[in-house]
Amino acid sequence: MPDRSIRYSFLSRAFHWSVALLVLLMIPAGAVMIQDGLPQPVQNTLFILHKNTGLLVLALVLLRLVWRQIAPPPPLPDRVPGWQRRVADLNHRLLYLLLVLMPVAGYVRVKAGGFPIETLDAWGVPALVPESEALATFAKSVHYYGALALGALIGLHLLAALYHGAIRRDGVVARMWA
Ligand code: HEM
Ligand code: HEM
Repeated sequence: MPDRSIRYSFLSRAFHWSVALLVLLMIPAGAVMIQDGLPQPVQNTLFILHKNTGLLVLALVLLRLVWRQIAPPPPLPDRVPGWQRRVADLNHRLLYLLLVLMPVAGYVRVKAGGFPIETLDAWGVPALVPESEALATFAKSVHYYGALALGALIGLHLLAALYHGAIRRDGVVARMWA
């Protein structure tokens, strides 16, 4: 029986599930909004939601990384083998890297391209990068390949969660569960 007292703090779980939900919505929304033939109002709405929610994700992830220093992850159950700990640790580090890289690349793509970011513009935040076609194109590629890599890492993460939760039933998933 998993020990329910050994788990992530409430705030860590709140960060995990809010970011997970937003990212799991943002990836398909991002893929849909760039399709040709969408009605203009639908495309505009998706872009506005995508850009501004993406920056919310960045804020949540940065706060979460600070909180992780204050409340480090609880120890994994002893029966989890060393190689799985190392793979999980690497996967989590790469997930965090991409959760920062994706919004930053998205921001640069939009601002270097001379497009608006409604919330930041309304607050009067100046653009942090110059307008530049070359920079916008570079950031667009980073954002595109980053999305593929993030999707693969999330796929691995979900398979691992399924394996621990449904096959091993070793208490790993309970550490992050509600
Ligand atoms: C965790 C955060 C984010 C995720 C997971 C994400 C994911 C995606 C995905 C899957 C696509 C479609 C594939 C592509 O063309 O790249 C996309 C496109 C796009 N995203 Fe994001 N995004 C994030 C944050 C942002 C932010 C913060 C912005 C801008 C402020 C942004 C701006 C864009 C733009 C402009 C496109 C269309 C790319 C183009 O064709 O020009 N994204 N995003
Ligand atoms: C149904 C979906 C998901 C489930 C069941 C799930 C489950 C879990 C579990 C059980 C852990 C703890 C693992 C451990 O400490 O070894 C964890 C950690 C983590 N998850 Fe998820 N996850 C899901 C979705 C996501 C998504 C979509 C993302 C990324 C956007 C994500 C990012 C992370 C990160 C970065 C950690 C490391 C937490 C830390 O130690 O700071 N998860 N997840």
